[in-house]
Amino acid sequence: MRKSYLLRHFFLRLKAFIFLLLLSLLIFNTIPLSASSVEDETDEFTEDHSHGDIQRGERFFKGLLPTDRKFESCVSCHILTHSDTLNWNPSAMDIAQKFKGKDFAEFQSAVMQPNGKKMEASHKDFKIEEEDLKKVKLYLDDLAVTGPPSTGPTINQIVIFLLLGLLMTFALLDLIFFHKIKYRFVTVLILIVALVVQVKMVADAAINLGRSQNYAPDQPIKFSHKVHAGDNQIDCKYCHHTAEFGKSAGIPAMELCMNCHVLVREGANSGKFEIAKVIDANETKKPVEWVRLHNLPDHVFFSHAQHVGVGKVDCKQCHGAVEEMDIMKQTSDLSMGWCINCHRDTKVNFKDNAYYDNYMKLHDELKGGGIDTIRAVNIGANDCMRCHY
Ligand code: HEC
Ligand code: HEC
Ligand code: HEC
Ligand code: HEC
Ligand code: HEC
Ligand code: HEC
Repeated sequence: MRKSYLLRHFFLRLKAFIFLLLLSLLIFNTIPLSASSVEDETDEFTEDHSHGDIQRGERFFKGLLPTDRKFESCVSCHILTHSDTLNWNPSAMDIAQKFKGKDFAEFQSAVMQPNGKKMEASHKDFKIEEEDLKKVKLYLDDLAVTGPPSTGPTINQIVIFLLLGLLMTFALLDLIFFHKIKYRFVTVLILIVALVVQVKMVADAAINLGRSQNYAPDQPIKFSHKVHAGDNQIDCKYCHHTAEFGKSAGIPAMELCMNCHVLVREGANSGKFEIAKVIDANETKKPVEWVRLHNLPDHVFFSHAQHVGVGKVDCKQCHGAVEEMDIMKQTSDLSMGWCINCHRDTKVNFKDNAYYDNYMKLHDELKGGGIDTIRAVNIGANDCMRCHY
């Protein structure tokens, strides 16, 4: 009698528990489920012939077709997603854009007849049926329009967030009113896990929004400071030539790049593809849309001339080891505290600097031994009005 009662209760609890478990599984699997259902779609049943061709092209590109080819799949070099780690090869989107308006013959000769060292090394042993390559071209043309699969926050994530909220509400209601779930720790566990996941989602989103420190976006051209300022020892001010006398350091125009790239047409890492973009941009006079990293709010005034020209502060102190960066990255947080602290600590070299001649009073104190060193703060660098309009 008592045994069966216990058993019944146990099953009731079990049912409630399994229901919650399934619910959370369902929620967490929304993304993979929806993604794989698109992948698994077969083309056998599609009526639109060209759609099937595009999908075959995609499979070939991704190396999903069973063949005895000797080379890696295209996608292993020409990646589909943007990434923070540098992949020197052109991305799939890159080549799709380049060849979207061009005919098949041009595409075919570009792929099959390597015209540079890097290309020869990468595309060697290519034996591809014309039919297959045609479909790859169809796929790439389609990609150029539809764009790469998105990696950013999706509707799914918002849905997950809301469902987690719902789950928490249920758990809370159960804990206080219904008591459907016998073991309290199960309810509490659900609550805690849901809360932690939500907090993490918010934190991730916030970090992505405040694209501040360590922000290192992909750029339209794979320009590497390591290759230029590091390996080839080009002076920062050769390219950022307004840094010494102007408010802003500026980003060089393509004409300046051409000083060297008229001759240098192939890079050791990227081959001809990236430098071809430089040459093309210079010819078409279409400005390259570099993604800007450092950005102070409008209410703050900052001048490079004041720091680089007058203060003789090294770029490195504010921008880090730029000559080691393949992808430019913001290393300082550009907060008010960062400015203020440096002004407190940094000595100003009063000697041999005509700019400081009008600080005679300080000069005199310095001579009279009143103070031994002058720091930026002593010349008013931390007055609100110097930095705020
Ligand atoms: C050959 C030209 C060239 C040289 C030399 C060069 N840069 Fe740059 N720099 C660029 C270009 C182009 C960009 C924009 C693309 C990017 O952000 O990578 C840039 C971007 C930057 C940025 C980021 C600007 C932003 O978006 O906020 C900083 C900081 C910077 N450079 C500092 C330096 C420093 C420091 C040196 C010397 C160690 C240096 N650069 C040398 C061309 C150059
Ligand atoms: C005292 C710190 C400091 C020093 C030194 C400094 N920078 Fe900057 N740099 C900044 C700040 C802050 C910004 C953001 C400015 C803004 O948003 O208005 C910036 C922005 C830039 C940018 C983006 C374009 C622009 O001008 O806004 C480039 C490029 C750059 N710096 C290059 C250099 C180079 C090259 C040097 C050395 C010659 C240098 N910086 C020295 C603090 C510094
Ligand atoms: C003072 C000469 C000089 C200037 C100016 C210059 N470059 Fe370069 N660039 C080079 C050299 C040298 C290489 C390395 C070639 C190699 O790998 O042998 C190079 C390589 C490259 C590469 C290929 C990198 C690799 O390793 O594959 C790209 C892309 C590039 N530069 C873009 C630019 C852009 C964009 C500008 C203008 C903002 C620019 N360059 C300005 C000299 C210069
Ligand atoms: C081992 C790596 C690798 C593989 C595999 C590979 N590629 Fe490439 N591909 C490259 C590199 C590197 C370049 C750029 C070389 C250059 O511009 O000098 C390139 C360039 C290209 C270009 C541009 C050529 C131009 O003239 O601008 C096309 C188109 C291309 N690849 C298509 C393909 C296709 C289609 C496949 C699959 C059948 C494939 N690639 C497989 C490395 C690879
Ligand atoms: C790496 C150290 C350093 C950092 C970081 C720094 N500064 Fe400075 N700053 C100096 C030095 C050194 C001077 C003194 C040189 C001079 O007289 O301009 C100075 C001077 C100034 C002055 C001029 C004071 C005068 O003489 O009128 C202003 C304005 C200023 N800084 C603004 C800023 C702002 C805004 C930031 C942050 C975004 C900043 N600084 C970050 C080192 C720094
Ligand atoms: C050396 C330069 C400098 C000086 C001096 C300075 N500030 Fe700022 N201030 C900044 C910078 C840079 C920011 C932007 C910080 C950010 O965006 O995180 C800022 C932001 C602010 C903000 C906005 C806060 C926010 O979170 O956006 C206020 C308010 C402010 N400052 C007040 C002052 C007052 C009051 C003084 C005088 C006591 C002062 N500041 C002196 C550089 C300075």
